[in-house]
Amino acid sequence: MEKRSQWGTRLGFLLAAIGSAVGLGNIWRFPTTAFENGGGAFFVPYLFALLTAGIPLLIMEYTIGHKYRSSAPRSFSKISKGMEWIGWWQILISFVISTYYPIIIAWSIMYAYFSIGTKWGEDTTAFFTGDFLNVEAAGTFGSMVPSVLIPLLFVWVFVFFFLGRGVKKGIEFANRIFIPTLFIIFILIVIRAVTLPGALEGLDAFFKPDWSRITEGSVWIAAYGQIFFSLSIAFAIMLTYSSYLPKKSDITNNAFITGFANSSFELLAGIGVFAVLGFMASQSSQPIEDVVAGGVGLAFMVFPEIISQMPGSSLFGFLFFASLVLAGITSMISISETYIAALQEKFSISRGKALLIGGGLAFIASLFYANQGGLNLLDTVDHFINNYGVALAGLFEVVAIAWFARSLKDLQAHADSISDIKLGTWWRLSLGLITPIVLGYMMLQNLKLELQ
Ligand code: PHE
Repeated sequence: MEKRSQWGTRLGFLLAAIGSAVGLGNIWRFPTTAFENGGGAFFVPYLFALLTAGIPLLIMEYTIGHKYRSSAPRSFSKISKGMEWIGWWQILISFVISTYYPIIIAWSIMYAYFSIGTKWGEDTTAFFTGDFLNVEAAGTFGSMVPSVLIPLLFVWVFVFFFLGRGVKKGIEFANRIFIPTLFIIFILIVIRAVTLPGALEGLDAFFKPDWSRITEGSVWIAAYGQIFFSLSIAFAIMLTYSSYLPKKSDITNNAFITGFANSSFELLAGIGVFAVLGFMASQSSQPIEDVVAGGVGLAFMVFPEIISQMPGSSLFGFLFFASLVLAGITSMISISETYIAALQEKFSISRGKALLIGGGLAFIASLFYANQGGLNLLDTVDHFINNYGVALAGLFEVVAIAWFARSLKDLQAHADSISDIKLGTWWRLSLGLITPIVLGYMMLQNLKLELQ
């Protein structure tokens, strides 16, 4: 049998795990989610979710990967034969995300280019949906949008190149370059942002706590949802990555580092984004609530408009979109690695073949979003993945491991045998009780909203 690939160094693994966690979700999802769910008060449910679900699950996934040294489906099947499908379910979700995530990276590449000379003009919304994506033909498929197709091909070449080179020479190498670069660029962006006129008002709006919100169930759901998505939990990613760790490796410690690094980046992004929104509000004398947006709208419609009004707009714009590209590509590599590892193992094929099959299929599927009308498709798919796919995958995972297989004790013994930090009741209680209840509640609430 081929020897299992390994990370070159512990730092290499950590950078790759942080690279997966730090993605578009940190930059365009966290700031708005926090603002809309109580501002400063959101940090209470957020920290609670981090400590009772995020880090405990990360430790669990790292331990499973490290103990069974296999891809997700095989690792789960080694715990109990009937659990292999949980791994495949998580991989399916990763696969679906890997069909639309590259589209957003492709847009960001184009917007990095548009930034130079602010080519998006005065009406940035019309530019995005009209000139750029041409969505007025929404719903009709069949005509590719070349300005998306070309950068999309570029993204895939990149992804294939790094994944093709393997764990150490490809994934680790990419993250060693991209993640430090991303941090430097992002710090520059934040420094510029907080020195803009109006920045303080933006930060004030972001941090001002609305304590009355803290009793709302939806605020807690938002916090757990953010933690899951942001830490790339229940996507088979962290499990796959930790299966490449050397035998002696302090996984519990690694989980804490990954979790706190990701949240620090998220906080930094919140500061940067709200400083910029504060600037916008002060320039246009609008209340900040009117300029807040999240997701695609924030990055491709609101931000371009603000960037145009800044001194040194080309440079700021370029750096902002470059940071989306870097954050996105390292997450994209991690998502795709899950199915490559699984296919390779399941069918005993080479890494290259698995890449060609898995990556090839994802590539073809991604072309659908490069069509006119692709934006609507992306929205719909993203909605289902976020509201059901992720919560369900997490729920299946904890219930199977904690309740059916009753493996928490075993896993704890494994983690404790190689870590300085010993896991206690906190860990077992979080996974055996708190997380399943919260995730179950989350699913029901989402279903209720859907049926209304
Ligand atoms: N964690 C990444 C983010 O915050 C996104 C991601 C989700 C990556 C799912 C992989 C899988 O954006």
